[in-house]
Amino acid sequence: SKKRKRDVQPEENSEEQQQQQQRIIPESVVVPLRSSEKSAHKFTNDGKSTNDSDKRKWTNNSKKPARPQSNNQPSFSSLREKANALYTTRKTLPIFAHADEIRQQLKGNNNVMLLVGETGSGKSTQVPQFLADEAFCQPKKVKIINQEDGSTKKEITVGGCIAITQPRRVAAISLARRVAEEMGTPLGKSSPASRVGYSVRFDTSTSPSTKVKFLTDGMLLQEMLHDPWLTKYSVVVVDEVHERGVNVDLVLGFLRKILASKNEGRGGIPLKVIAMSATADMESLQDFFGHDRDQAKITSTDTSNQNTQDSQISVCHIKGRQFPVETIYSPEPVHDFLDAALKTIFTIHVKEPMPGDILVFLTGQETVENLENLINEYAIGIDPSLPKVLVLPLFAALPQAAQQRVFAPAPPRTRKIILATNIAETSVTVSGVRFVVDCGKAKMKQFRSRLGLDSLLVKPISKSAAIQRKGRAGREAPGKCYRLYTEADYLTLDETNTPEILRCDLSQSLLTMKARGVDDIMNFPFLTRPPREALEQALLQLLNIQALDETGKVSETGLHIAKLPLTPPLGRVLLEAAGHSQGCLLDVIDVISCLSVENIFLNINSEEKKEQAEQARRDLYRREGDHLTMLATVQGYAADNTDRKAWAERHMVSHRAMQSVMDVRKQLTTQCKNAKLLHESNENRPPCDALSAVPVLKSFLTGFGTNTARLVPDGSYRTIVGNQTVAIHPSSVLFGKRVEAILYNEFVFTNRSYARGVSAVQTDWVGEVLGR
Ligand code: CDP
Repeated sequence: SKKRKRDVQPEENSEEQQQQQQRIIPESVVVPLRSSEKSAHKFTNDGKSTNDSDKRKWTNNSKKPARPQSNNQPSFSSLREKANALYTTRKTLPIFAHADEIRQQLKGNNNVMLLVGETGSGKSTQVPQFLADEAFCQPKKVKIINQEDGSTKKEITVGGCIAITQPRRVAAISLARRVAEEMGTPLGKSSPASRVGYSVRFDTSTSPSTKVKFLTDGMLLQEMLHDPWLTKYSVVVVDEVHERGVNVDLVLGFLRKILASKNEGRGGIPLKVIAMSATADMESLQDFFGHDRDQAKITSTDTSNQNTQDSQISVCHIKGRQFPVETIYSPEPVHDFLDAALKTIFTIHVKEPMPGDILVFLTGQETVENLENLINEYAIGIDPSLPKVLVLPLFAALPQAAQQRVFAPAPPRTRKIILATNIAETSVTVSGVRFVVDCGKAKMKQFRSRLGLDSLLVKPISKSAAIQRKGRAGREAPGKCYRLYTEADYLTLDETNTPEILRCDLSQSLLTMKARGVDDIMNFPFLTRPPREALEQALLQLLNIQALDETGKVSETGLHIAKLPLTPPLGRVLLEAAGHSQGCLLDVIDVISCLSVENIFLNINSEEKKEQAEQARRDLYRREGDHLTMLATVQGYAADNTDRKAWAERHMVSHRAMQSVMDVRKQLTTQCKNAKLLHESNENRPPCDALSAVPVLKSFLTGFGTNTARLVPDGSYRTIVGNQTVAIHPSSVLFGKRVEAILYNEFVFTNRSYARGVSAVQTDWVGEVLGR
């Protein structure tokens, strides 16, 4: 039969459901295990602590924590043994000496704290543990005005949980894993008694007793859609503020609004906010959070107003532990940084003693994978008496399991070579690194308002980023940093990163704000105010995809889109597809999953391989273009139930990328079910054929109507909006082809303007969408 069953996953609880569960759990179960640094040691095997205060906790609790359910889960006593062992390391972290100071500074009316400390000083892992047992971190029952009738009061539980936001998924997950180990508790949904969980786009792992939750800043914004007052949390820790990602800026703005409104929707229970940064520039944040307080002081003559009079913004500086790192610059400008990196890596490997892993900073998945291949090829020929090399890639789209390998210690007589994007700059700590190789560049989002879209451009990093990269070599011992650029070039770098809010497409941010009821965007408390032009572009884009109505208010469609873990255009596509048919929605989910990774195909470097690849992928390539080719690839890969790795190799498809695609596909399917877009009964669908291609492409047009170009008589393509010349990217299956009009997902600018992720469409379809 042509029909296939899709791999159906059990439904995961929505945030809302989890919240409900959280609220009905009695306190004694919410706080089952003593977690703070005082208690992590000296647990005997029967689970009793020799520490007095811990004993009190244990005996006070009539209920013992539930046992992990599954048999392959480690027992609580083995978890505790591990935690005890880790305690020795934790005690040596620079932040440990500040534990009491941090606790003290958040007591009473002090609700905001700024924490500065070098990467690796222990901020992200220790701060939540310092606070977990504090009185202000326990859930409290309060009565608030019932929003539905506006007069009666209803009882809700406020607080109890600590959120720590991260800019990246990989950091959120690896931190949660680490902190769970340190606290001696299972991780996330693996056990109902787990106290540490995480929530990242496409993957939430929490339990009813989650006390410490690592989540991406984007996920916290999502949670605010359901719970604008963040009633679940007692403390929100905003980490990596120095990176100034756009989501961090939004989170800070919303937090300031909650603080300024005296925690109205939290029954007056204050939300404590900690902003953490690896660089010392905290002045702007101090002004930012001090603003409302100062305003209140000026306007309030009521000296009894404790809330505004006594509250302070405390700043805590953690003295870092940094060994000296020698900087070695390239004597002359480098033209091919992959070649330079390869040479540098092997020079280090041959000349420098073990132990000492190498961390290489590159620009993106493509350069990481290219260098990975080069090193593996080169390593075959090296002197067998030398230690082995183990190459480990680390980039955002890498499947989780592969990301976690980076953190495991190297096998004996092996040097780890970690090839990372700027993900490893401050977000994650990889132990064992003594050598850093820095290419001096990073892929950065750059909003090109003329075109109205984001492009990813490879750009020189800032001095501050270069210093962070270098610092990674001196965490555990003196190290060396090889900069693949000259000292003169270093001196020309910008001092700090430009905040992302000044250089990215703001449509997602704007929709988040609108969906949260912020209509007056101009008066939102921005840490850095984005240019008016960028805001207007974003408004226009949201209008184009009908996420806003003519008055600029969020529409029904917009509200739906805001709740999806996708950019607004992709969210729009998904909704449109759901309106066509269930089969179309499933197809669109497959394509969107592919778009979440950089490239599903293996990189081809040589002409000879190119031909081989054409052959291998022949039955996947679709003349409709890249979207349908992606669809055919996912369907082919998913249909192979025997050996998907072999299938991928046969078709020269990246097995690694496809694993990520399958992760995302599973999560998106679940989300669509939760959002009632996908119905259980409709999971059998015929494979996509030429007929079903039309609704898929038409759906994409609703989100990407302005990303279209038509063929002009000279054979080139001109964008339909703006009349700019754009060429089909060589990676596209439509490269070199002439079709009436194209739709593309991404616009890349290298030496010329390229459209990537391209499909053939008809001009009248585009007219239909743009004319609406
Ligand atoms: O936040 P900050 O950069 O100040 O430090 P952290 O992330 O709390 O890391 C403190 C220490 O915990 C690191 O030096 C690592 O030794 C360890 N750690 C780890 O082993 N695995 C992780 N995923 C995170 C941290």
